[in-house]
Amino acid sequence: MNARILGIGHHTPDRVVTNDALSQLMDTSDEWIQQRTGIRERRFVASDEGPADLAVPAARDALASAGVKASDVDLVLLATLSPDFDCPASAAVLQRRLGIGGMPAMDVRNQCSGFVYALAVGDAFIRSGRARHVLVCGAETHSTGLDQTTKGREVAVIFGDGAGAVVLGPEPDARKGILSTHLHSEGKFAEKLMVEAPTSRNWPRITEEMLDDPGSRLWPRMEGRYVFKHAVTRFPEVVQEALEANGYTTADLDVFIPHQANLRISEFVAGVLELPPEKVFNNIQRYGNTTAASIPIALHEACDAGLVRPGALVCLGAFGAGFTWAAALIRW
Ligand code: ACO
Repeated sequence: MNARILGIGHHTPDRVVTNDALSQLMDTSDEWIQQRTGIRERRFVASDEGPADLAVPAARDALASAGVKASDVDLVLLATLSPDFDCPASAAVLQRRLGIGGMPAMDVRNQCSGFVYALAVGDAFIRSGRARHVLVCGAETHSTGLDQTTKGREVAVIFGDGAGAVVLGPEPDARKGILSTHLHSEGKFAEKLMVEAPTSRNWPRITEEMLDDPGSRLWPRMEGRYVFKHAVTRFPEVVQEALEANGYTTADLDVFIPHQANLRISEFVAGVLELPPEKVFNNIQRYGNTTAASIPIALHEACDAGLVRPGALVCLGAFGAGFTWAAALIRW
């Protein structure tokens, strides 16, 4: 029994933040941001909105398009690096907001690869018969965790807020649905892309020193060039792995949906894989990097654009902090 995507939805906050708006807050420019990342604008929450709030409309749309009632979901998965609370899980908060309960709910904390990791968990539950319907969300509220001053500009210009969701259900035809998932991690690079604090290695977990010197530990830290170098190696590697595992080559691929890390990374990867631009879907220009939400948002927009048609061979690929990287191959 394979799993397949029965329905999909996404939601982004109404507040559009252009590159020019960011250059009012920090020493940056529309030209620098577009040239290095491809991003023109991103969405930021107005206030008081965590990832579970953003996931609610995305999940409702996914459930409606799947024709599945929320109460018929057997497992709720939410991938995020910016959870509503340290504990409990944002998946539990989402469950409450959807008015359902009793079934398991858990967060998947695997950053930019989080959605593909969560998809793999949902897929395994369905394949093993432990669940019939699984709600898989990716949701992030990045904007409240960015240093929006010149000190934080290298990272702050990249990220945006948003959510995407899919509903998985059983697919009896072994040639259809999620054909395979491929997950990898290499923890030796943990410090290359991280948010260090609040940290349970410290008592108290947030100190005066951290608040006084936010540049160092409270904000995301990234060795940009290092991340770039590894991303453009791991992305193609894992896509090839997924294709080879199913007896396909890149020529068989109809649509590649990369995690929206950076347009330059996506273009480089497409070049390595020798994929023509029309087979690669990107929307980072309008949303920035929404981490765990980027793939389901892009997948939904690619479906709406008519790019993902019944029978299409679709590959989702991700790379992010950890480092982690992952792919899922889907016969739509
Ligand atoms: N605006 C203007 N200038 C900036 C900004 C900014 N937002 N950020 C940095 N600069 C400056 C730097 O201070 C530096 O100035 P200097 O030459 O006077 O010292 C100059 O621009 C060049 O800085 P570099 O770090 O060398 O810039 P680079 O060309 O490497 O681009 C970037 C930085 C875009 C982050 C690049 O390294 C990159 O694309 N890395 C990949 C990382 C990435 O995309 N991560 C996404 C998130 S992780 C993920 O999803 C996998």
